[in-house]
Amino acid sequence: MKNILLIGGSYGIGHELAKELQKENNVFVASRTNENLSNLNVTHISFDATTDTIDSSKLPAVIDGLVYCPGSINLRPFRGLKLETFESDMQLNFFSMVKVIQSVLPQLTAAEQSSIVLFSSVAVRMGMPFHTSVAAAKGAVEGFAKALAAEYAPKIRVNVIAPSLTDTPLADKFLNNEEKREKSAQRHPLKRFGTAQDISQMANFLLNEKSSWISGQIFHVDGGMSTLLVNS
Ligand SMILES: NC(=O)c1ccc[n+]([C@@H]2O[C@H](COP(=O)([O-])OP(=O)(O)OC[C@H]3O[C@@H](n4cnc5c(N)ncnc54)[C@H](OP(=O)(O)O)[C@@H]3O)[C@@H](O)[C@H]2O)c1
Repeated sequence: MKNILLIGGSYGIGHELAKELQKENNVFVASRTNENLSNLNVTHISFDATTDTIDSSKLPAVIDGLVYCPGSINLRPFRGLKLETFESDMQLNFFSMVKVIQSVLPQLTAAEQSSIVLFSSVAVRMGMPFHTSVAAAKGAVEGFAKALAAEYAPKIRVNVIAPSLTDTPLADKFLNNEEKREKSAQRHPLKRFGTAQDISQMANFLLNEKSSWISGQIFHVDGGMSTLLVNS
């Protein structure tokens, strides 16, 4: 059985992933809340990524997989975006993620080969208005991931998933009525927005040895959004 640490997993994409992983792995979920975890065979660690350092004494000596889920979608015109928003987006998406990885590096290198999965956004490959803050923070994640993958190959694989709009609590304000849902679906070449499963399945694959020859990659799981121009 592999030991997998999910930062986030109480809801959203991470929760969908936890549901699948717990069938065949020892899963540790580090998050602020745990109401949705009671029916799952996972160990919860109370943890706020922006303020806490992960307590490695609560973790096994070997970690085979790490997924960092916390993220933000603060969309506003650039001129109205405060520097504090850029800083808090960078803190949650990037600096807190760096801190977690550094804290569990001994456990990740203790595995024969471990896998780190990080999240970016469609808005890094494709320039989108009002996305300056989140695109900058996720752009940092992508550059970091490739450099880390190079530095730790072949011991640690590092890959990134860059989703487009996905139906989770994080995206609720963009999908909270039928009109928004229909418009969002139609904006995508594959004519729907994403489900948590669309993304968690890719994360699951990247944690698995089936992907043992894949590292330093950005996976655009985005309904074709970042690459396809189709006739409407
Ligand atoms: N949904 C989308 O449309 C979309 C699009 C592009 C990229 N993404 C990226 O995909 C990733 C997952 O997104 P999601 O939609 O599943 O997000 P979500 O619905 O907000 O879920 C985030 C998970 O992370 C945990 N979390 C948040 N802040 C935390 C903190 N400070 N400390 C510890 N845990 C924290 C949450 O648990 P607690 O609240 O219990 O701590 C929750 O389990 C994010 O990085 C996001 O930026 C999502």
